[in-house]
Amino acid sequence: MCGIVGYIGQQEATPILIEGLRSLEYRGYDSAGVAVFKDGLNLVKAKGRLANLEEKLVDNASTGLMGIGHTRWATHGEPSDVNSHPHMNESNTIALVHNGIIENYLSLKDELEFEGYTFLSETDTEVGLMLVDYYYNQVGNLLDAVIMATDRIEGSYALAVVCKDDPTQIIATRKDSPLIIGLGNGENFVASDIPAILKYTRDIYLLEDAEIAVVTKDGVTILNEKKEVINRDIFKVTWDIAAAEKGGYEHFMLKEIFEQPKVIKDTLIPRLPLNQDVIELDQIKLSKKELANINKIYIIACGTAFYSGFVGKYLIERISRIPVVAETASEFRYREPIIDKNTLLIVVSQSGETADTVAALRMGKKAGAHVIGVVNVVGSTIAREATEVLYTWAGPEIAVASTKAYSAQLCAMYLISTKIAMELGEITDEEFSEIKEELYSLPSKVESILQQADYIKSLANKYINMKNVFYIGRGMDFAVAMEGALKIKEIAYLHAEPYAAGELKHGPIALIEKGSLLVGLVAQEELFDKTVSNIKEVKSRGASILAIALEGNTEIEKVADDVIYVPSTHWMFTSVLENIPQQLFAYYIACGLGHDVDKPRNLAKSVTVE
Ligand code: G6P
Repeated sequence: MCGIVGYIGQQEATPILIEGLRSLEYRGYDSAGVAVFKDGLNLVKAKGRLANLEEKLVDNASTGLMGIGHTRWATHGEPSDVNSHPHMNESNTIALVHNGIIENYLSLKDELEFEGYTFLSETDTEVGLMLVDYYYNQVGNLLDAVIMATDRIEGSYALAVVCKDDPTQIIATRKDSPLIIGLGNGENFVASDIPAILKYTRDIYLLEDAEIAVVTKDGVTILNEKKEVINRDIFKVTWDIAAAEKGGYEHFMLKEIFEQPKVIKDTLIPRLPLNQDVIELDQIKLSKKELANINKIYIIACGTAFYSGFVGKYLIERISRIPVVAETASEFRYREPIIDKNTLLIVVSQSGETADTVAALRMGKKAGAHVIGVVNVVGSTIAREATEVLYTWAGPEIAVASTKAYSAQLCAMYLISTKIAMELGEITDEEFSEIKEELYSLPSKVESILQQADYIKSLANKYINMKNVFYIGRGMDFAVAMEGALKIKEIAYLHAEPYAAGELKHGPIALIEKGSLLVGLVAQEELFDKTVSNIKEVKSRGASILAIALEGNTEIEKVADDVIYVPSTHWMFTSVLENIPQQLFAYYIACGLGHDVDKPRNLAKSVTVE
C-alpha cells in the first residue's frame, strides 16, 4: 500500500523522485506528492495519477538536491490534495511521508489537539508528522524526535522525514512496512520498494523493524532504538526491474497470495483493540437499537466478493439469528426484492466500482435500506454512496483474479457478524474473548499454510491433466468451494463446478469418471461424516480425491488420495484458511499450463459495465 521515495545527493531530486514514484504507482495511485529542499521545503501535491503531479510541477518547478516523495493508496481519508503526502508542519520546517496504518492515531490526535495542534487532513499520517514536530520542538534534533514519536506509535509504519533546519539528512525508519536504503556514490536513496531506485543502484540496505537510518549524501548510518550503530551487510539486487516490481515474485498473483498474513492483520487487528471487549468498525455503528429493527439482511456482490458474502450469510444467521439472503448483484437488481427501511443491505466490492453492485446499492438506498459498503478502494463509488463503509485494507490488488482482497472481505464478514451478535447479546463475553483470540492468531496460521506452497505445487503438477474438477463441501465449506472452483476457471481455464456435497448425487455425479478430480472441503467438523459419505460416492466412481482438512483430522486419509491440512481454528474462521491452498493450487496449475496468470483471458479487474 502506497509508495515512498527519498533522494539526497548531487543531482536534481525531483526527476529522480518522480521516476521512482512511477515504478511504485501500482502500489497506490490516488494521489502523489513531493517535498524538495532548496532554500526551504517546497511541497507539491496532486490528487489522482502521478501525471497530475507532473503537470503541477511544470508550473511549480521544485529544484533542489534533496527530497521525499509519495504515491498514495488512501486508507484514512479520501483521495484529495490535502490528504496526500508529504505532510508538512505549520511552520513548513518538517515534511514526512508514511506507509502503513497508525492504529492509535485518534488518541494521539486528541493529545496533540490538547497541546494546541490543528490538523488539515483526515489522515493518520498527519498525526505522525505532528508528533515528530511536537518532540522536535522539545529536543531540537530530528533523529531524537523521530525516535520519540515512533515510540508512541502503535501500528505499522515506514517513514521518511526531512527538516529544513538540517537539509543534509533524511531520517528513515520502519515497523511492519517495508523500507530500504539504496547506496550510491555521493548520493543515497530511500524507498519502500526496490524498483523505485533500481535504475541508480543495486546495493541496498534492508531496514529491519524499529531500525532508523540516518541518510546523508555521503553515507548511511543504521541505528537501533537506543541509537546504537548496527552493521548491515549490503544486499545486492540481482533481479531485473520487471521482476522487482513484483517484489521478486513471478506474478502479482503469487505476491498477493503471500501478502495475505499482513492483509488479514491490517484488516482485523486495528478493529480489535487490546484489553477491550469491543469491535471498532470505522464509522459503522450498528447499535442495538438500530439492529433490533432490522428484520432482514441482504449481502450483495459479484464474483469473488459474492462468495465472501455467502460466508457472511452462514455466519450472521448462525450467530445472530437474523435471516440473510446472499445474492449476486446482477440477479438482485432485476428481481424486485423486498426492501424497506428495516432492511440492512451489505454490498461487497474490491474495486467499489462494479456496475451491478453499484446499481444494487442505489436500489437499496432508494427503497430506504441501511446500506453498508465493504470496499477495498477508498473513495470509490460504493465507498462514497453507501450509508456507511467498512474498508478492507488489502492494498492495491493488481492480479485480475482476486486473492488477498477476498481474504480481507472474509475478515470483514467475521467482524460484522461478531459485531451484530454482540450488539444483540447473542454471544457472551467469554465467547467474544475466544473469537478475538482466534482472530489474532489468523495471520500466523495463514503464514504456516503458505509454507506448504511447494507441496501444493507438487499436487498441482500431479493433477494438471485432469478433465474436470468438482469442488464440494457443506455449509461454509460449500461457500469456500465456490471460490475454489471460480479461481481454477479464471486462471487455469479448466472446467470446474462447485457443488453442495449433498446435492451431488442429484445429477452431477453422472459426470464423474476416471480422470475427474474431486476437491473435498471438510473443515466443518460437525458435517465431516456427511461430506465424507459424499466423497466416497464419488471415489467409487473413479474420481481422484484431494481433501482440504483441519490438522489432526487423519480420518480423511482413509478416503482421500491426497490431503492438504490447514491449522485448526474456531468454527467461524475455517473459510479463510481453507481457501489459501485453493489459491495456490489454481495458481500452480495455471502456471504449469503456461497461462498469463495475472491477466487471464476475457476477464477484467473491474467490471464497470452490466
Ligand atoms: C470481476 C473480477 C473478479 C471480481 C468481480 C467483482 O469479475 O474479475 O475478480 O471478484 O469483478 O469485483 P469487485 O471489484 O466488485 O469486488
